[in-house]
Amino acid sequence: MDDSPARAPASLVPPHDPHRPLFHLTAPAGWLNDPNGIVQHGGRWHVYYQHNPHGPQWGGIHWGHASSADLVTWRDEPMALAPTPGGPDEHGCFSGSFALVNGTPTLYYTGWQGGVQSQCMATSRDLVTWEKSPRNPVIPHPPEGVRPGDFRDPCVFRHGGRWYMALGASLDHDRGAVLLYRSDDGQGWTYRHVLSAATRTEQGLMWECPNLFPLGDRWVLTVSVVPGLGARYFVGVFEDERFVPEREGILDGDGGAFAHLTATGENGRVLQWAWLNERRHQDLIDPGGWAGALSVPRELSIEGGDLRVYPAAEVALHRGSCLIDGTVTLGEGGPCAFRGRHLDLCLRVEPGNEHPLHVTLLRSPDGAEETVVTYDPEARQLRLDRSRSSLDARTVRDSQRLHLALSRGEGLDLRLLLDASVLEVYANGRACLSSRVYPTRADSLLGYVTADRPTRAHVEIWVMEGGIPADQGGRS
Ligand code: FRU
Repeated sequence: MDDSPARAPASLVPPHDPHRPLFHLTAPAGWLNDPNGIVQHGGRWHVYYQHNPHGPQWGGIHWGHASSADLVTWRDEPMALAPTPGGPDEHGCFSGSFALVNGTPTLYYTGWQGGVQSQCMATSRDLVTWEKSPRNPVIPHPPEGVRPGDFRDPCVFRHGGRWYMALGASLDHDRGAVLLYRSDDGQGWTYRHVLSAATRTEQGLMWECPNLFPLGDRWVLTVSVVPGLGARYFVGVFEDERFVPEREGILDGDGGAFAHLTATGENGRVLQWAWLNERRHQDLIDPGGWAGALSVPRELSIEGGDLRVYPAAEVALHRGSCLIDGTVTLGEGGPCAFRGRHLDLCLRVEPGNEHPLHVTLLRSPDGAEETVVTYDPEARQLRLDRSRSSLDARTVRDSQRLHLALSRGEGLDLRLLLDASVLEVYANGRACLSSRVYPTRADSLLGYVTADRPTRAHVEIWVMEGGIPADQGGRS
């Protein structure tokens, strides 16, 4: 366990906010967006993030910082980066990454000044206090064809004895792209070429937050697409400074998460975090004093040449009491019922099931509020129905969907992580739906697992530590 004190909510944030997550990372107060510069160093994980400490809205962007020895207990650290008046990051320290350059912890980030983006760096001895380079900006201008406002989010990595930087960009303000830079010392950078670019309009006008990393026997490139707020991945080969994609797909269905960033841990595991934006009107955000959460850490792997994503094993360490653990026949003898607002739910169904299955969450006793996750084998679709998630019309209540075709002989393996307003749904390691939901009623706590026809399933439901204990939330 961590030896540090638990995170104390800052005074800006009132206690008992029913929408505030327990086990997803949030800022102590104020605004959070992209995860930045993640690293495991000396055993400890450090996650930095885009942060406005002055209020729960985007603006005056700093780098916040939290660290953890076990990926379970997080400690808020001092602010890592703040805008410097008159500097190239005067109006914001935008997203970027971490690299250990000749033994020196180094952050690469984008400075934002009067509409101009340039690439900057900062170094540290302890990963807590950071000193900006006197040479900033280390890349002052974009190459030809890229506007100064379309040039951001450096991802720096070492390969073949050299440093490389993948940068998010738009070609002619029209086509999302990733630019490749190279350096021998991590300070002086030379532009090489466009590493990857959108080929179709639905692939976006601008690609933000590129993340290029080796995984298994492949390389993976992830990008966040503007407009549309979705994220895509490409699995391929990175050789001779060229990236050749072989497979591609969507990271989180229907734009539920953004700005995905990975770090390779000291034992070689690759973990990813993403930003889960608010889906409610600013008037609803302001009283709480906080905005934005990060996904749980996700462990990535390559299987059969494609990307697999599962919640990191440590997420299960947040489990408290077990509400249900057994094989049941859904759709017979009443629903499999439970209660809670902070839950870990696993549902496994043998291959061959042809009928829709539903997990209802956050339902009020009269059914006026509820959130429903459905897997429909015939439509080959995973759906998250938010149409009745909240009685408040100032919340986003459209449905999210994702294509998920099970192959012959493949069962359904669903994992739902509910943490107040955060809901992440993982299916078979290859589909992920992330969402935000804001029930208005204190008694919107009921849940059911059901099926349209009798279906044998293994159901495991846990209340997460700090959630409603089992004696109030057991089978009803
Ligand atoms: C993505 C993003 C990045 C930028 C940062 C600013 O959400 O727009 O491209 O660096 O947020 O906060």
